Amino acid sequence: MSTDISIRPAAAGDRPALEALYRAAFPEEDLLALLRALLEAPDDVQSRVAARDSEPVGHVALTACRVAPAGVGVALLGPLAVLPAWQRRGIGGRLVAAAFEAAEAAGLGTVFVLGDPAYYGRFGFGADAHVAPPYPIPDDWREAWQSLVLPGAAPPPAGTLAVPAPWRRRALWAP
Ligand SMILES: CC(C)(COP(=O)(O)OP(=O)(O)OC[C@H]1O[C@@H](n2cnc3c(N)ncnc32)[C@H](O)[C@@H]1OP(=O)(O)O)[C@@H](O)C(=O)NCCC(=O)NCCS
Repeated sequence: MSTDISIRPAAAGDRPALEALYRAAFPEEDLLALLRALLEAPDDVQSRVAARDSEPVGHVALTACRVAPAGVGVALLGPLAVLPAWQRRGIGGRLVAAAFEAAEAAGLGTVFVLGDPAYYGRFGFGADAHVAPPYPIPDDWREAWQSLVLPGAAPPPAGTLAVPAPWRRRALWAP
């Protein structure tokens, strides 16, 4: 369990620790440019930090997006990272739950994610074939494009996910 961990919105002073966190959690993937762009887009992006003694040990971002052409608001979850030494204590799960709360509070009833179905399936995410990702995903990644409709919300109409600037890089969608 992670009872001495609190979940809070990210603060400006967290940035160096978050950069170190992403280097450690994704040693083979450079997500720093994405992280920085997300932290600098507070109108579109909410960040939650799992902190111990105010030091971040985990982070998740939630980006407000729209499904085109209808323009219905939805959320995109990710990236999600927990320091290796703090993994498998439920922190990732708490961050995902915090992201769901943030989505609900923002009136965004559906959450999309591009990630490992073996992990995200435990939260209720399932493969999504109705809303296309903003860039084509390689065939062997198709199962990684998932969505979850929050309780009481209606699924969005079919369409294509329209994302704000931090996510408009093809490489982010075909790693
Ligand atoms: C994925 C990640 C955020 C999970 O954080 P966490 O705090 O360890 O998550 P939790 O403690 O809530 O859940 C851990 C469980 O998820 C499982 N898990 C972690 N990554 C998994 C994966 N890719 N596929 C399947 N299961 C996975 C663990 O085995 C563990 O299962 P168990 O409890 O049955 O033993 C963390 O492992 C991480 O930062 N990984 C590197 C970065 C990454 O891959 N991020 C996600 C993609 S954006």
